[in-house]
Amino acid sequence: MELKGRGALITGASKGLGAALAAELARAGARVALVARGADELESVAARIRAEGGDAHALAADVADKRAVHGIAGAAAAVVGPIEILVHNASALGPTPLRLLLDTECEDLSRVLETNLVGPFRLTRIIAGAMALHGSGVVVHVSSDAAVAAYPRWGAYGVSKAALDHLNRSWAAELPQLRFFSVDPGEMDTAMHAAAMPDADHTRLPGPQDVARRIARMIADCERIESGARVVVPT
Ligand SMILES: NC(=O)c1ccc[n+]([C@@H]2O[C@H](COP(=O)([O-])OP(=O)(O)OC[C@H]3O[C@@H](n4cnc5c(N)ncnc54)[C@H](OP(=O)(O)O)[C@@H]3O)[C@@H](O)[C@H]2O)c1
Repeated sequence: MELKGRGALITGASKGLGAALAAELARAGARVALVARGADELESVAARIRAEGGDAHALAADVADKRAVHGIAGAAAAVVGPIEILVHNASALGPTPLRLLLDTECEDLSRVLETNLVGPFRLTRIIAGAMALHGSGVVVHVSSDAAVAAYPRWGAYGVSKAALDHLNRSWAAELPQLRFFSVDPGEMDTAMHAAAMPDADHTRLPGPQDVARRIARMIADCERIESGARVVVPT
């Protein structure tokens, strides 16, 4: 897929991988709509992309808020045109320090699922119909190794990412005219990693920029990857 001129919507784009991927897609000529809850941080990322010559728009919203999703999809299409690239990157860990399942409140599990699974489902449901009519579209679900390996204290997050991977496969099975991927980005030095593992040595972790470059390349090469695939970004 030629990225130049494509409308892209990236959630969780105010920092970490989402911000890096928005910048990378904009550098390749995509018109990017950035979503996160914190308006100021999001606007400064969009302003930085514009200062580099990119076409970027900040849309402050919560992907877990079911009343917000139609507004996100509509506002994004209004500023960047038809959405042909949708990246579900925003994610919640649940309360930190991370808790064992026996200590996890049902409400906390629900909130993680609303952000990591139900929000992406709602947004794809709104946007994929237009993508299908338009005849092209790629949807990326940012997953984790916690989707396939069970780590103590990562239960709520891991369950949400495992379900997200299966949502990805299910969309791919039902909409063969579009491309769906889930991507495990590997460990990166980001705010989320620091919140989850405050004692880890962050100096040994890669920043999100390199991972963002690889994901942007994957989106550009999407015709060559089987739809529904789970892709592990090589470290
Ligand atoms: N970092 C790692 O080592 C690692 C490893 C494996 C997988 N991942 C995955 O990679 C993705 C990016 O992670 P990251 O480390 O870059 O995270 P990050 O630096 O913590 O950034 C998370 C982004 O998501 C936004 N966000 C969170 N909840 C949101 C909501 N309800 N609605 C809208 N935006 C929301 C945050 O902004 P606001 O708080 O302002 O909304 C922020 O922009 C996630 O899907 C994560 O699960 C990360």
